[in-house]
Amino acid sequence: MVGSGGREHALAWKLSQEAEVVVAPGNAGIAQDVECVDLAVSDFEGLLNLCRTRAIDLVVVGPEDPLIVGLADLMRAAGIAVYGPGKEGARLEGSKAYSKEVMAAAGIPTARFGAFDQPEPALVFAREMVASGNLPVIKASGNALGKGVVVCNDLDEAEDAIEMMMLDREFGDAGSTVVVEERLLGFEFSLLTICSGQDYYSLPVAQDYKRALDGDRGPNTGGMGTYSPVAAVSADMVRDAEEKVVKPVLDYLRKEGVDYRGTLFSGLMVSQGKSYCLEYNVRFGDPETQTVMRRVNGGLLAALLAAAKGEPIPPVSISDEAAVTVVIASGGYPGTYRKEVPVGIPQDLPSNVKIFHAGTKFQDDSLVSSGGRVLGISATADSLSEARLSAYRVCDKIEFAEMHFRRDIAASSV
Ligand SMILES: Nc1ncnc2c1ncn2[C@@H]1O[C@H](COP(=O)(O)OP(=O)(O)O)[C@@H](O)[C@H]1O
Ligand SMILES: [Mg+2]
Repeated sequence: MVGSGGREHALAWKLSQEAEVVVAPGNAGIAQDVECVDLAVSDFEGLLNLCRTRAIDLVVVGPEDPLIVGLADLMRAAGIAVYGPGKEGARLEGSKAYSKEVMAAAGIPTARFGAFDQPEPALVFAREMVASGNLPVIKASGNALGKGVVVCNDLDEAEDAIEMMMLDREFGDAGSTVVVEERLLGFEFSLLTICSGQDYYSLPVAQDYKRALDGDRGPNTGGMGTYSPVAAVSADMVRDAEEKVVKPVLDYLRKEGVDYRGTLFSGLMVSQGKSYCLEYNVRFGDPETQTVMRRVNGGLLAALLAAAKGEPIPPVSISDEAAVTVVIASGGYPGTYRKEVPVGIPQDLPSNVKIFHAGTKFQDDSLVSSGGRVLGISATADSLSEARLSAYRVCDKIEFAEMHFRRDIAASSV
């Protein structure tokens, strides 16, 4: 397993029930469950050597960055089975302009858009959009760490966003191409699909909370909590999204000679009963994965291995239980925050609670924070309401200076 966040903790923990797992580089919490090796995700040579010396049967790549720059291709060229798309497939996440072009070419429902590498035509397009009664969303095409999207309420905001990205170059090269698209209204859900190039299999849907504060206020974050199952997303809606958003993009890629083996994460918005694709990501979601892994009974290893080998994917066994994950973040996150703050975790956890570490490390044998999102408190129970109560009971026992978490994860759904 390559990576060091809460997503990788959840995947490594689940896979370790079915296989021997080594994580590079991991974090303090992952190291309590499985072996960690101190290799950066960018150290491709080191990772390749590790695979050889340890005779690794399957590499699961957690984050998008190494996929975008071709880690999976390098490993495959060396004869190693990899779960994660190659560079070509990873462009779906690495370039929003490319991704939208693929959606258009494959007939996938998505917001009307234009892609621009000059500010003037982008401004003209945004003005015309507003004049025709729609509001624009401005997106830096490249990878801007989840901060490159501005959902605008008027033309001024759109103009400011285009200038901020293209002239002030707030996101560096990630903003040298900008996508201007029509703002849709509706509710969002994400579909995580295991893909083998030929076959695909979707995991249960989890609802994500993007904003920092209760009631969906405050700035966007990497995600402050998740729950599953999601009553608002019916089995029919999932099937519809698979038919219209997942299958056509895989078919399109195959025709282009791209054999997509890994997770396809479809970010969907349901607007007036119809699902639109907002974006694709090329890896598991964080913190969706923490919640979904709590509902997996078994069969994950077989599914990921089959996907990596381009074979039909055996279904994963999913429990009927509900799961809720609450993210505990550093004070100030998603803005600036302190690191190396001592983190206190209760010794005795109830058996239905698992703590996934996102940003922790050991310093002189004591646990300290090392990132913005620090822990994910993840509980399962027969009902969502019980799961959320269990999770929050443990949240209230976590101690670290200036920590914050949302109080309303799964609250409106129980
Ligand atoms: N066309 C759109 N209409 C309305 N909201 C949008 C649209 N595109 C994106 N958003 C909002 O912005 C968020 C981030 O956009 P997304 O394309 O998922 O980029 P990223 O996750 O890389 O920041 C979405 O989750 C959604 O809330
Ligand atoms: Mg997104």
